[in-house]
Amino acid sequence: MQLGVCYYPEQWPRDMWADDAKRMVELGITHVRIAEFAWSRMEPRTGEYEWQWLDEAVETLASAGLKLVLGTPTASPPRWLIDAHPDVLPVRADGTRWNFGSRRHYDISSETYRRECLRIVDVMAARYGQHPSIVAWQTDNELGCHETVPSYSPAALERFQKWLKQRYETIASLNDVWGNVFWSMEYPSFESIGLPNLTPTDANPIHLLDFRRFMSDEVSSFHREQIDVLRAHAPNADLLHNFMGFFTTFDHYDFAKDNAIDVATWDSYPIARTESIALPEEQKARYARTAHPDVSAFDHDRYRAIGGGRFWVMEQQAGPVNWAPWNPVPAKGMVRLWAYEAFAHGAELVSYFRWRQCPYAQEQMHSGLNLPNNELSPGGLEVQQAAREIANSAALSTLGAPVRAAVAILFDYETQWMFEIQRHGKTFDYQTLVFDYYESLRELGLDVDIVSSRADLSGYRLIVVPSLAVIDDTLVAQIERSDAQWVFGPRSGSKTEAFAIPGNLPPGALQRVLPMQVLEVESLRPSLTPALSVGGANGTAIYWREHVRANGATRVVAQFDDEWPAILTHGKVRYLAAWLSHELHRTVLEQAARDAGLETQLLADGLRIRRRGDLTFAFNFGAQQVQAPAPANAVFVLGQAGLNTGDVCVWKDA
Ligand code: GAL
Repeated sequence: MQLGVCYYPEQWPRDMWADDAKRMVELGITHVRIAEFAWSRMEPRTGEYEWQWLDEAVETLASAGLKLVLGTPTASPPRWLIDAHPDVLPVRADGTRWNFGSRRHYDISSETYRRECLRIVDVMAARYGQHPSIVAWQTDNELGCHETVPSYSPAALERFQKWLKQRYETIASLNDVWGNVFWSMEYPSFESIGLPNLTPTDANPIHLLDFRRFMSDEVSSFHREQIDVLRAHAPNADLLHNFMGFFTTFDHYDFAKDNAIDVATWDSYPIARTESIALPEEQKARYARTAHPDVSAFDHDRYRAIGGGRFWVMEQQAGPVNWAPWNPVPAKGMVRLWAYEAFAHGAELVSYFRWRQCPYAQEQMHSGLNLPNNELSPGGLEVQQAAREIANSAALSTLGAPVRAAVAILFDYETQWMFEIQRHGKTFDYQTLVFDYYESLRELGLDVDIVSSRADLSGYRLIVVPSLAVIDDTLVAQIERSDAQWVFGPRSGSKTEAFAIPGNLPPGALQRVLPMQVLEVESLRPSLTPALSVGGANGTAIYWREHVRANGATRVVAQFDDEWPAILTHGKVRYLAAWLSHELHRTVLEQAARDAGLETQLLADGLRIRRRGDLTFAFNFGAQQVQAPAPANAVFVLGQAGLNTGDVCVWKDA
């Protein structure tokens, strides 16, 4: 369990640096990330480099014994670069360009910008690549943040046309696959295809989808270009990018493939995230100061898979932040709790944003480990406590590997894009549906891996697919070979790769293992609530329901009050023909877990548990005191079973 911090030496007088470094070490910090926004100080004028300050910052931190993560500065192109190349500014969907004056003001498809990035990255990596204390490099920062991807620029258009040509080869084939006969949308050539913005009504969904696929590839290739330069200069460092929570603009599995990263790192702001995602108001209110108990865990579990087992938290919330609709101070204990939570889910390092609150500019209302006057903040004091606890405990300082869970949830980026392009009902959001299933499994005390539909799923005992727009033969073959229980949610198999309805109706290829057909679908306004009961739990469909027909040996095991089938089973495969109210999801998943031979336990409200190595961690996010479900002979290595709000305990089974 290692702790880190994000530090911006360029924002502070030089005579503070040595003391900062010393105090970081005293606090128990081992890693510092620097430099990711410092381009204007590295190269104040085109081609004029100033490295002396960065040399000194690196040496000051390194000689205090700290390990460094260096960020490439490409998230904040300096003014002179924009003046020389105004077409580097990204273009919004309404056709206007973003201005200089904050950050991320660049067009990811701009070849000029890519060239400029490679130049600065090359010079920087040549200078610092072999430094023994620089253990990792981060490319850019939070690619895609601030809605600067997609960019609707002329450069994007040109590269999109090339991308389409590569994918479809002939314009006749593209017209055919896209179904452009509809509304006379046929194109005479690839050069005549535009970007899918500024159309009077919906653009063709496959046009939108291909543009999103293309943009996802643009993000990956932007990162990959920098990685190739960094690998050449810094062959021994871990290379990484820091991703965001609940963020689906690009396909992170694709991004990470072919060793494009050595470790996945992400930025965890649990309270701000709880405020900004689509949760019921009642939950936002209940968890306003602790964050929803699954909101960080969800991305810990997702990024563990994206990093091939290795993940860090690059930026951890250390107190109130500045960017959510409301920004409360976390409940006492939460900053400490979030660190243990990340470690329980397998993090190697938890690094805080930021060392000291900056009293000027955009983030002056954002806390850090120190107040602007350099006193440890309340969050900083909690980090100090956690660091001491870890240092004083053999069990906590040498954690075992993250355990492979018995349960997998499949998460798929293209499904998110497809159902955003064609929501069909304004409350249908795929990621929210996945989160509801995840929450259900976690409330049952289960550990979960979140993986790609292309992952090898053998070994899992319960595989949960809240939805998957395209079901291909490879996945069906995995189901045929598997002896796990499988649960599929609505809209699974509802589309082809080309964004059309499968010829044999949804769920498409899934019918090979689950004979059934979806005849009609409906999105549900709040007043439409088809009711049902499952295993003693009563609830309704919300947001989405399908009218389905069971074929062959498929059984209908639950139906709605108007007699449409709700849950169908065929051997080990279940299908839920609706988005069900939360308790019903949990009940169905509990039944599936039982059929898979897994033990479940409904945890107290706000309580969560997670196993790592031979330890079990328990966390209380709820308002009431709760008892962690430790066995009578458990040996506690931290805390005890009675947990107040914000408390953590950790035990080993005797
Ligand atoms: C992250 C970003 C940081 C900082 C932080 C504030 O999204 O990477 O640079 O802005 O948010 O919470």
